[in-house]
Amino acid sequence: MQVDLVLYNGKIYTRKGFVEAGIAIEKGRIVKIAKETNLPKASSKINLNGHIVLPSLIDSHVHLRDQERAYREDFFTGTAAAAAGGFSLVIDMPNNKPVTMDVQSLRERMKLAKRKIAVNVAFYSAFPESLKEIRSIVNNGAVAFKLFLLEKIGGLNIGDDEAVLRAFREVKRANVPVAVHAEAKDAFEDKMRRLQDENRNDIEAFLEAHSATVEAKAVQRIIGLAEKSDAQVHFCHVSSAEGLSLIKKAKESGVNITCEVTPHHLLLTSKDLKRYKNLAVTIPPVRTREDVNALWSALKQGLIDTLGSDHAPHTMEEKQGESIWEVKPGIAGLETTLPLLLTQVDKGRLTMAKLVQLTSKNPAEIFHLSARGTLSEGYHADLVVVDVKREYKIDASRFHSKAKFSPFDGWKVKGKPVKTFVNGNLVMDEGEIVAKPGTGQIIR
Ligand code: DOR
Ligand code: ZN
Ligand code: ZN
Repeated sequence: MQVDLVLYNGKIYTRKGFVEAGIAIEKGRIVKIAKETNLPKASSKINLNGHIVLPSLIDSHVHLRDQERAYREDFFTGTAAAAAGGFSLVIDMPNNKPVTMDVQSLRERMKLAKRKIAVNVAFYSAFPESLKEIRSIVNNGAVAFKLFLLEKIGGLNIGDDEAVLRAFREVKRANVPVAVHAEAKDAFEDKMRRLQDENRNDIEAFLEAHSATVEAKAVQRIIGLAEKSDAQVHFCHVSSAEGLSLIKKAKESGVNITCEVTPHHLLLTSKDLKRYKNLAVTIPPVRTREDVNALWSALKQGLIDTLGSDHAPHTMEEKQGESIWEVKPGIAGLETTLPLLLTQVDKGRLTMAKLVQLTSKNPAEIFHLSARGTLSEGYHADLVVVDVKREYKIDASRFHSKAKFSPFDGWKVKGKPVKTFVNGNLVMDEGEIVAKPGTGQIIR
């Protein structure tokens, strides 16, 4: 037997931990992980130089933009950023222009993506006007729904518990998860208006309006609706101790929920806003030291299910603004997430096992992405080669993303993704994108 590709001289992260071995790949799948002498002959061979190999990351929280917001990011630049960051699959958020919220908008997005993507992409949809359409949106390939509670995006009346409950029952029937941005619209808007009446336009006002209580209110409400419907609910970017403690309680009583944290909520506090200013403005915002400590301890306790980047690129102009209320929130995180997390592993704050679990295995399970997220025979050959010894400074000016700035610019990190393979194809090599647009697949 002769296979397409053999990677040799690596330390492969398998279900049993690291093994010194090679990987044989055929038709995009891993066919064998074994010592080199036991691997089949291959038409092509790559020496991994003793580096470690992890399942490439799966990011279930990415805003790829394109269409009318291609000036911020497009399917190629966004997926190039993913490949550079060690990701082989990203799930695209629906708050686009036009909003992804029905069969037609989903199909249009997929059609455009198909010829541009460098890594695999799956799609969220927002809720449609008519809940009957949920089934056909899923049949057309959306892997999950997104519910944004801060303002209405899509067709669902987010203030109406009965409507949200009906939507949850429908996604339950369709057997797909619903990811939630938990910030309560009414509580937020009340506070924002009061602050604006006092002419408060500063970052502190922004933090006050997007308070931990605003998050906790939405978390509480959604837990109630998750319990009633038994829908599979995934909380995006949990940021506060208050929100976390509600999630902990609900998990303990058996509610069907999971949650995500982002590297920026783990590594920045509101004090850092003085230094990074608008570049670190995101929603929910980065919070207090106590909140950050609560996130880390939840991570250690096994309460956090996924680490996602919430890659949310904007132009530099959009990140400025007369008033804080005009600043576009979001951080481009695809090219910093893995180096930042590897640095935490190096410091002993995170284990490699946890990193892999939260960035590949769990996202694959939660979003029902079959045969991905683990390096195992029969699985898709999605993998990242990492040089754990490489020390360098993050240089945002060299990002593949169109957003060439980051609060993490200049941060010293240790650990670099040096090769990313997607469906058995080498897509990124030493920071360069070596595959053609269209190499990625749409995952349904
Ligand atoms: O900071 C954010 N930016 N949070 C969101 O929920 C939306 C995102 C965006 O699309 O820019
Ligand atoms: Zn969000
Ligand atoms: Zn987001």
